[in-house]
Amino acid sequence: MAAVYRIMSSSAATGMPSGYALRLLIDPHANQVPRHRPRMDGQSRPRPVAQTTLHGAGVRSGPRSSDGGNHPAGTIVVVGDVHNRARVGGLLHACGYVVHAAQDQREALEIVRQRTPDVVISDAGSAGAELCARLRDDPLARFVPVVLIGDRNEEARLLGIEAVATDVLCTPVCSGELIQKVRSLIRLKRYTDDLDSADTILATLARTIEARDPYTAGHCDRMTQYAGIFGTHLGLASDEVVALRRGGVLHDLGKVALPDAILLKAGPLTSAEPDVMKRHTQIGEHLCQDLKTLRLVRPIIRQHHERLDGSGYPDGISGEDVSLLAQMVGIVDAYDALTTVRPYRAAQGPEAACHVLAHEAEIGWRRRDLVSEFIRLCQIGALHYPLGPPPIG
Ligand SMILES: [Fe+2]
Repeated sequence: MAAVYRIMSSSAATGMPSGYALRLLIDPHANQVPRHRPRMDGQSRPRPVAQTTLHGAGVRSGPRSSDGGNHPAGTIVVVGDVHNRARVGGLLHACGYVVHAAQDQREALEIVRQRTPDVVISDAGSAGAELCARLRDDPLARFVPVVLIGDRNEEARLLGIEAVATDVLCTPVCSGELIQKVRSLIRLKRYTDDLDSADTILATLARTIEARDPYTAGHCDRMTQYAGIFGTHLGLASDEVVALRRGGVLHDLGKVALPDAILLKAGPLTSAEPDVMKRHTQIGEHLCQDLKTLRLVRPIIRQHHERLDGSGYPDGISGEDVSLLAQMVGIVDAYDALTTVRPYRAAQGPEAACHVLAHEAEIGWRRRDLVSEFIRLCQIGALHYPLGPPPIG
């Protein structure tokens, strides 16, 4: 006989008021988790195993998927009340998922960053909503589905919705509903994983440019770091900061199509070669044109060599037609170029590089206020590199 699992608030289970802590109630007449129905395609679902209890933080590795591959059905992080962790975790573990149990929000964030799970399940309420909001602000974790579970409390539900939780379930939750919910969310996440992979491939492609030119080693990482710091300093929205960081990696993506004879040329370029070099802005934008995730990055790639007075390239646009993010990456790019050695000149110090940027603002190439704020960051030492691992958002 199939077991019936129900999740309900501990207050209902014990008669004691306990906020949003959860209890998973197990039918006393059954001792198995529900078995999956056979699939129509002839492949079986991961086989259930006896439920086990999680003690504190840790990981339970469930059976492998039997769909022909040697991979788990998915990875879940369960955080919150210890009974919730143990019982929800045990249920999902029995269904073939790798389950990581976190005692609190801090530990959950660490696990998410290390393990990149498919779903996060947390108690509802302020702690769960805050965890969700923190994940949504993290470029590497923002697409992880978050399911909050709590009793029928309108305030907790609204907190979850405001924090962009994927779903807020009210207790009692049927075990079958929870399992189906997790399964469908993982299926959905596979699509965003594919999008992310396309993004990652382009970033890898961009880094091959560095590999071709030893003089630009570390340029992508520094650009990512500096541009992210610059955007945060100016109080830009989190998606714009992410775009700046991505722009730091991808701004010169189009150089991948340039021949070594021009890209790596140590001496002066012939009269025709600068025009070939300038095409990297258009080529890079073209390479990214089908990726919705790079919507804010494409103008950075195309416009990072434009100037406010219209003397830049490739389009010669001016003033506010040059996107703010492209202007910012242009400043960062110029600073990094000036402060690193080139085959035809030595590296300049930060102070000298800032003088050059200030001059370029004076003659109308760059916005004075942006350059001033960037110089301020230099002067307080905020652009010291390395500042730690530079994740790519
Ligand atoms: Fe460039």
